[in-house]
Amino acid sequence: MISDLWYKNAVIYCLSVETFMDSNGDGVGDFEGLSRRLDYLAGLGVNAIWLMPFQVSPGKDDGYDVADYYNIDPRYGTLGDFVDFTHGCKQRGIRVLIDLVVNHTSDQHPWFQSARSDPNSPYRDWYLWSKKKPANADEGMIFPGVQESTWTYDEKAGQYYFHRFYEFQPDLNTANPHVQAEILKIMGFWIQLGVCGFRMDAVPFVIAEKGADIKKPKEQFEMLRTFREFLQWRKGDSIILGEANILPKDNIKYFGDDGDRIQMMFNFPVNQSLFYALASGDTEPMVAALEQTREKPHTAQFGMFLRNHDELDLGRLSEDQRQAVFAAFGPEKHMQLYDRGIRRRLAPMLGGDQRRLELAYSLMFSLPGTPVIRYGDEIGMGDDLDLPERNCARTPMQWSDEPQGGFTTSDKPVLPVISKGPFGFEHINVAEQRRDPESLLNWMERLIRMRKEAPEIGWGDYTVLDPVKPGVLAIRYDWRNNSVLIVHNLKPEPVEIHLDVGCGEHGNLLIDIADSESSEADGKGRHRLLLEAHAYRWFRVGGLDYLLRRTEL
Ligand code: GLC
Repeated sequence: MISDLWYKNAVIYCLSVETFMDSNGDGVGDFEGLSRRLDYLAGLGVNAIWLMPFQVSPGKDDGYDVADYYNIDPRYGTLGDFVDFTHGCKQRGIRVLIDLVVNHTSDQHPWFQSARSDPNSPYRDWYLWSKKKPANADEGMIFPGVQESTWTYDEKAGQYYFHRFYEFQPDLNTANPHVQAEILKIMGFWIQLGVCGFRMDAVPFVIAEKGADIKKPKEQFEMLRTFREFLQWRKGDSIILGEANILPKDNIKYFGDDGDRIQMMFNFPVNQSLFYALASGDTEPMVAALEQTREKPHTAQFGMFLRNHDELDLGRLSEDQRQAVFAAFGPEKHMQLYDRGIRRRLAPMLGGDQRRLELAYSLMFSLPGTPVIRYGDEIGMGDDLDLPERNCARTPMQWSDEPQGGFTTSDKPVLPVISKGPFGFEHINVAEQRRDPESLLNWMERLIRMRKEAPEIGWGDYTVLDPVKPGVLAIRYDWRNNSVLIVHNLKPEPVEIHLDVGCGEHGNLLIDIADSESSEADGKGRHRLLLEAHAYRWFRVGGLDYLLRRTEL
């Protein structure tokens, strides 16, 4: 059945093993600790986990510099612990996605070590070399201000090598058939150990033509089809969720005309304009971004998100819009990063105001796609701006008010636990919020339930209703004779709207999913709704016979 496509109606929770839960008191999170917390995640209602890199790595880019694709960093446990973890997930109906970082390796990877030391090494051609410094060596840096070049001279090799990211991350020559075969082997390995797919790192760079004389690299999209085909053969329900911050006009090339390339991509244009909407109350650019990313094959899906483990990249907003977001959420220089973004977590950006946090998550969960949240989001964790670059938003999970937030019994956690101040573990922790029915944690659990019970959002067609007042966004989703309507008021003041749901008599009755309040239309088929400041309302349209109609699925 088509509704078997689990990723169309899932809630994905991203976490790093290293900072989630330490079981053996060495200060570093591990798989055993994570396994012990699976009931917590199941209780929250997430049905997929995305694990950030956990393979052997010198850890100079938080694991995005892999030195052995077939083993886990011993600090996190053993492959046995990993399989225990994937099994534990399976028992609870949770799927596991893992990061697949194959655009580059660590410079410590034996392939690179062999390639640089011997021109005749079988691995020489797994990387990109140049005798002379290429003319464009000082262009295309991903981390401006920190990264100096994209070609660096290697003494041992006597040549320059290409690195799109930091200099300790040499790019793999992904056009080399041996490299491609190895990528499939890596995917096959982890699939065999129980994972259900991959968050593919840096997809546009993985598939780009690379080399010293490439001026305008073309993407080799066929590669994506090869990856997908392989996965489908090995495990039918496994997927690729691509990290591709691209222009909307290129989306279809990544999904494939017939949906034969990657199944999912993060929706970066909507992410950026969503922050602009939160900053300004102006929803128009977001509606435009939704429109631009509307078209996709039936089986494809967008990942919707607010903050991730990287900086909030605002590079695709106009200058004025970007400045508005900086002014609202990251006015100080040390809150910004790489000349294009903000490195803070969401809760401090919104001043820890639960009402605004609820608005932001409700909005993100109700956009056309699959919501992806980050560990700690569910309790409103903060950041530590004393930590360098993106590390500020990667601090350990805050479980309780015990020392180190209950993350570890060691007094030397891998990264400092946020302590003191409004976001310190003393106030912001799972144990405390679990006891309070009105906490963000319990609210998030209800939101997740609500989202999972509204498959129209993941599957259906949507209509942005018009006209509504500025700052108000009303979206109706229709799927299999069912509809939901979700209304947000992004402004800090209350507003009254008169809304035609736009689906005839069926739209005369609205049942509030969260509050079990209903609204009946007036004689002209319009609903008078009073929205509080920063209000969010989720309605089922037509109400009563909903359950009956659901059985037609
Ligand atoms: C992706 C990751 C980022 C990492 C980079 C290099 O953009 O999200 O964290 O630094 O790739 O692998």
